[in-house]
Amino acid sequence: MNKNIANKYPKEVINLLEKMTLDEKVGQLYQAPFFSDIVTGHEYNSSETIKRIKKGLVGSILNIHNEEMLLKLQKTAVEDSRLGIPLIFCFDIVHGYKTAFPINLALSNSWDCDLIKRVSTAVAYETAHRGIHLTFSPMVDLVRDPRWGRVMESNGEDPYLSSILAKAYVEGYQQNDLSNPNSIAACSKHFIGYGQSEAGRDYNTVDMSKRVLYNMYLPPFISTIKSEVSMIMTSFNTIFDRPSTANKQLLKGLLRDELGFKGSIISDYTSTEEIINHKVAKDIKDAAYQCFDAGLDIEMVSETYINHLKDLIEEGAIKENDLDESVLRILKLKFDLGLLDNPYSYFYENSNQYILNDLTKSLSKEAAEKSMVLLKNDNILPLETSQKILLCGPMIDSQDVIGEWSAMADKKDVTSILSAFSSSDTLIITTDDSKESVSSADVVVMALGELGNEAGEGNSKTNLYLKQEQTDYFEKIYSYNKNIVVVIFAGRPLIITKFDKLAKAVLYAYQPGLEAGPAIKSLLMAESIPSGKITMTFPYHEGQIPIYYNHYQTGRPFDFSRPKYRYNTRYQDCQNEPLYPFGYGLSYATFKYENLSIDKQTLNKYDKLLVTIDCTNQSSFAAEEIIQLYIEALTFSVARPVNELKAYKKIMLKPKEKQTIQFELSVNDFRSYNLDMIHTAENHKYKIKVGPNSKTLYEAIVNVIDE
Ligand code: BGC
Repeated sequence: MNKNIANKYPKEVINLLEKMTLDEKVGQLYQAPFFSDIVTGHEYNSSETIKRIKKGLVGSILNIHNEEMLLKLQKTAVEDSRLGIPLIFCFDIVHGYKTAFPINLALSNSWDCDLIKRVSTAVAYETAHRGIHLTFSPMVDLVRDPRWGRVMESNGEDPYLSSILAKAYVEGYQQNDLSNPNSIAACSKHFIGYGQSEAGRDYNTVDMSKRVLYNMYLPPFISTIKSEVSMIMTSFNTIFDRPSTANKQLLKGLLRDELGFKGSIISDYTSTEEIINHKVAKDIKDAAYQCFDAGLDIEMVSETYINHLKDLIEEGAIKENDLDESVLRILKLKFDLGLLDNPYSYFYENSNQYILNDLTKSLSKEAAEKSMVLLKNDNILPLETSQKILLCGPMIDSQDVIGEWSAMADKKDVTSILSAFSSSDTLIITTDDSKESVSSADVVVMALGELGNEAGEGNSKTNLYLKQEQTDYFEKIYSYNKNIVVVIFAGRPLIITKFDKLAKAVLYAYQPGLEAGPAIKSLLMAESIPSGKITMTFPYHEGQIPIYYNHYQTGRPFDFSRPKYRYNTRYQDCQNEPLYPFGYGLSYATFKYENLSIDKQTLNKYDKLLVTIDCTNQSSFAAEEIIQLYIEALTFSVARPVNELKAYKKIMLKPKEKQTIQFELSVNDFRSYNLDMIHTAENHKYKIKVGPNSKTLYEAIVNVIDE
């Protein structure tokens, strides 16, 4: 073996590889399913998989959670196969194993790395104690189109925030030490561009410039690579006119050569053989060749590799050395996870004791409180204990608020809004929604929304309004009492313009997980103070989609002084502005921003720019505020977004407290890929904008020199 390769891997791993036959090597690249509800691909047969494990032809297993079965399979691999190489068990633990935390889009509204790290650490703990070694998370696709059901798994539309949160996930899962029995390996996905599926339809084509890819979609992946994520999954879509799974420019070129990613690259579910449907491969042998040649290590579910890689090597189309490298990466992960020392270390007696305890429940509640966003409040919230509160709406007692990718979480463990309010004996509540009862209530809390399975994979939608029955119900209750607080459960930003106009308050709860009810009650009663800010723009109207804050400038910007002028960028029948912009969210406190200042007019390379602003809590609530800093390039060689988030701080302010917030920027923060694909700030003036969201901003101008 080539010395350079051998030096990169532990001795144990090299020794193992040297003992392996070609079939066994190819087997390590196969990730077998072990469940009956196969969604695509050929019929699945569990006894065939067991036979293959015995022959050393399976490297890892997907989405199995029954511990007895896990143990049986591991024993088969270790005791019945020639070399006894243990399997890696992988599962999509996306926002909780047994304890359901809020969906990831909701968690991102917290802008809180510490929280996300604590959540992913807790998720890793439960997962690792149930025999699973690797999660297919974090999903770090940028999202701009709420028709796409998978927006629920993402960190929203901003590359900077998504990168920071992606790091927190990887650190929480992996804890810098895969041999730690409480940690699991992470896999960032879907490489790349999947969030831009055309028309918001899942699995659809993606087309974007290389510059958009590098400036927008790539940074969160880079962040996971820097955090040493163990694996990266390719996406289903084409990009630069090739399916990602067989895209050499992206896998070998970008991931390996340019970004130096050392972990394994895995396909998505049967996305290898799907390149035949994309019409870029003629048959499964050709698909195996193209995917392997592009740099793909592991094939999930489909069998192009196990059926054809050996032939391709014997025919000389693929080099055995390349196969060896792929196998070494997988064996190294097994080594890092401690599996080569003890293949059973993830199995515990009475493992129920490690899941769903009071600590994880209280973390789930905290996470839910910090994830929900108060979008509107016309002096109706917080509620008071003396008020007569009417609880109503189709979702008021719903436990279907966990959302998709819920792993082993059980809706029966969810506390609904009604149960949470009913458990308090100091509150005067009723659920009688007759005209008489509604009219006599001081305030109506109405829960509406999507069901859990309306978002998630394969759940794209064109109609983003709430169901007609819900609108009718709202109107009926509204005709009896105007003091309505609407709580909306959803996996995506829905079109809620009408409710937003009529209701006195809107709390967007997303899919908050197990502690939905207690968290909502706590926010409505001001036991905790709303602090979440949206990471995905809320459209005013469906026709505006895709709508996102960091869009490019146009040559004919909208002119607010001439809104009806036809030849500026506008709609005949709708405003351009979203209902709520990125970064928006209310608190019960009001914050005053003043005195924005910068410490120099010109920022040179290797220098630092200090930006300061005062923020005062004018209320009597101690509350958190997320202070955001954006830049705008006033000139550049290519179009750039109107605003680009570059820094933020989440701070706690006591009642009436004033704090001076300082940000430190370097020239790197102003850089972007320019006309020549050089990452540079060029030499230009930039606006620095600081404020509570992407629309309400205080500005200063700095001259940046990058040479
Ligand atoms: C999804 C992936 C997921 C995989 C395994 C696919 O359909 O796109 O995100 O990790 O299934 O469950």
